[in-house]
Amino acid sequence: MQKRITAASAAIFILIAFRVYAQSDTIRPAQIWPDTKGNHIQAHGGGIIKVKNDYYWYGEERRQGLDTNYRYVSCYQSKDLVNWTFKGDALQVSKPDTVLGKWVLERPKVYYNVKTRKFVMYCHVDGQVRSAVSTATVTSAYSYARVGVAISDKATGPFRFIRTFRPLGHESRDIGQFIDDDGSAYLIFEDRPFGFRIARLSDDYLDVEKQICLIPAHMEGGAIVHYGGLYYVIGSSLTGWAANPNKYATATDLSGPWTEFKDIAPSETKTYGSQSTMMIKIAGTKKTTVLFMGDIWKPKTQWDSRYLWMPLEIGNGKLWLPQPQPFRLNVRTGETKLIDEKK
Ligand code: DGJ
Repeated sequence: MQKRITAASAAIFILIAFRVYAQSDTIRPAQIWPDTKGNHIQAHGGGIIKVKNDYYWYGEERRQGLDTNYRYVSCYQSKDLVNWTFKGDALQVSKPDTVLGKWVLERPKVYYNVKTRKFVMYCHVDGQVRSAVSTATVTSAYSYARVGVAISDKATGPFRFIRTFRPLGHESRDIGQFIDDDGSAYLIFEDRPFGFRIARLSDDYLDVEKQICLIPAHMEGGAIVHYGGLYYVIGSSLTGWAANPNKYATATDLSGPWTEFKDIAPSETKTYGSQSTMMIKIAGTKKTTVLFMGDIWKPKTQWDSRYLWMPLEIGNGKLWLPQPQPFRLNVRTGETKLIDEKK
């Protein structure tokens, strides 16, 4: 009897261990995405950087049970963009003094500065402010409209929050990150009612130095990729957490002129229920692949929000998000393979 119990416990232990540590080679859009401990990844509205052989994914930490006095940015590490290890909350910050009422920290993005050897985080900080008209009233929850900046010596943090500001004096809500092939770093930010601004960061990345372009389109979730000699920008319409048809435009130079915006997927699918947050270019030994990285928001159960990653069909001025499907990714070769898991 004793022997049987021991054998059964060993089998259960092996099963659990296998489930927890089993490596995957497949990305499954819209499904639960377990990290290496089996917990659904919490890196919403996120961004990814590669430093040496490691990828780091930062995003909004929205797990249940967090202390509501703080906002958190999570950090995950991976070598293959498929298997992610949670490295903890890289940033934990309390409400800046100048924000009133309920506040948010959204869409964190991290840049690595090779000269200063510092990791610099940008994020969208918002909340209410006192109305200019009456001292008694406060404004809407998205009136503060600033970026926050934090710094760390290590990719995994802890990041030290430095300050909030309006980049180049403009309102800034959703932010996106773009690093060009020559290493120059840009912030994309939504400045209502003017549009989408693309601006270069200062040498130390701690400030937003120069506007490169204002695209007069009312869009958020901004992302850019430089592919085949063209810049492709994507973004979503302003519909809060609800999905809408995301669109793209192209230009030969970041400063424009940009083409008209066109749908990236059949408009009735509303980007398959997702919203853009970044495009990741993987220059492999056999192929250069560009992945669309989007969020499928669940506003009432944010911790359960999903991710929609898919290899894009891109080139010659066209960009298209195919019907989401599980796919294998090889970051060394850059190759992807769509998988039919229903068979
Ligand atoms: C849309 C933005 O893209 C999200 O990041 C978030 O700010 C929601 N709006 C809030 O409604």
